[in-house]
Amino acid sequence: MICLGIEGTAHSIGVGVVENVSGKCKVLSNMIKIYRPKKGGIHPREAANHHALYIADLLKESVSKAQVDFSEVDLISFSKGPGLGPCLRTAATAARALSLSLNRPIIGVNHCVAHLEIGRGTLDDCKDPVLLYTSGANTQVIAFAEGRYRVFGETLDIGIGNCLDKFGRTVGLDFPCGPQIEKLASKGKKYLELPYSIKGMDIAFSGLLTAAEQYYKKNESLEDICYSMQETTFAALTEVTERAMAHTEKDEVLLGGGVASNRRLCDMVQTMAHDRDARFFVPSKDLCIDNGAMIAWLGVLMYNSGIRMKVENSFIDQRFRTDMVDVSWHD
Ligand code: ATP
Ligand code: FE2
Repeated sequence: MICLGIEGTAHSIGVGVVENVSGKCKVLSNMIKIYRPKKGGIHPREAANHHALYIADLLKESVSKAQVDFSEVDLISFSKGPGLGPCLRTAATAARALSLSLNRPIIGVNHCVAHLEIGRGTLDDCKDPVLLYTSGANTQVIAFAEGRYRVFGETLDIGIGNCLDKFGRTVGLDFPCGPQIEKLASKGKKYLELPYSIKGMDIAFSGLLTAAEQYYKKNESLEDICYSMQETTFAALTEVTERAMAHTEKDEVLLGGGVASNRRLCDMVQTMAHDRDARFFVPSKDLCIDNGAMIAWLGVLMYNSGIRMKVENSFIDQRFRTDMVDVSWHD
C-alpha cells in the first residue's frame, strides 16, 4: 500500500509518500516547506496562506520524487490536529480535494501519535518506546498503555522549542533559534542558576525563560545563559522521561520533534537509557521535525486496522489530544 500524507499543523507544510513493506515504513519521499515569519512569532493566517501557496507544487514534487504516479497512491492522510486552525484547514482541504479527485480513501490522523509511529515504523527494534516529543509548540512524554497512547507528562505552559525561540528572539537571533542556541551553549562554561520546575510529571518553562532574559539584561555571557538553559530544561525533560520509563517498565526510549536534533539532549537521554539498560532511538532529522511521511505512515496503520473516514466527516480538531485516539493497531 502507498499512502500520501499531508502535514500542516503549524510552521511546516509537508507532503510525504510512504509504502508499507511487510509492516515497515519505506519513505519514498518527504518534502517540507517551512514558513518563517520575518518578525515575531507565528501568525496562523499568514502561515496558512504560505501553506496554500506551496501545497500544489509540493504535492507534485513529492509524488514525482517518490517515482510514483498519482494513480498509484492508495490512500490520502492529513494531520487532523492538534495545531493552528487555519493551517490545519489548509492541509485538510488539500487532502479532501486529492481524495475526491483520485477517488481514494481519506484519513485524518493525530500529529503527536504520528511522531511516535514513524519511529516504530522506520527503526529496527523500536517496538514499544516511551516517546519524548519535543518541538516548538509541543512537549510531551508519551507511551502506550491499555489501548491508548497516554501522556505521562507534558509542559504546563510553553513547548521547549518555543521557550528557546522566544529567548532567541529577545537576544536577536534568527528563527528558528534552537540550532543557534545549541552552538552558543557548546561554548558556555559557567552554570547560571535557573528555575527547575517539575510539578508531578509535568514541566513548566516560562519562569526559566524570564530568568534567562533577566540574566541577559544583566549582561551575563550569552554562551553561559544558553548553556544553562539547555542543561536545566534538558535535565528536567530527561527526568520525567526516566520516571515514565520506570512507571511503565519500558526499556526503549524514542526522541521526536525538532528539538531532538539537539546533540546535548540526545546525549542526556542516551546516558539515562544506558544507565537503565534501555535502548535509545532517534529517527533521522527529516523524520523528527514535522513532516508528511509520518502522517502518511499513521494513515497506513489506521487504514489497515480497519479505520475508515468519510470526506464529509474529515474534520480537523485543533485540540486533538494524544490520548483521544483508540490505538487498535498496536499489539
Ligand atoms: P509542532 O507543531 O510539532 O509543535 P514545530 O512547528 O515547532 O512543531 P518542529 O519542526 O518539530 O516544528 O520543531 C521546531 C523547533 O525545534 C523550533 O522551536 C526550533 O528552534 C527547534 N530546534 C530545531 N533544531 C534545534 C536544535 N538543534 N536545538 C534545539 N532546538 C532546535
Ligand atoms: Fe510536531
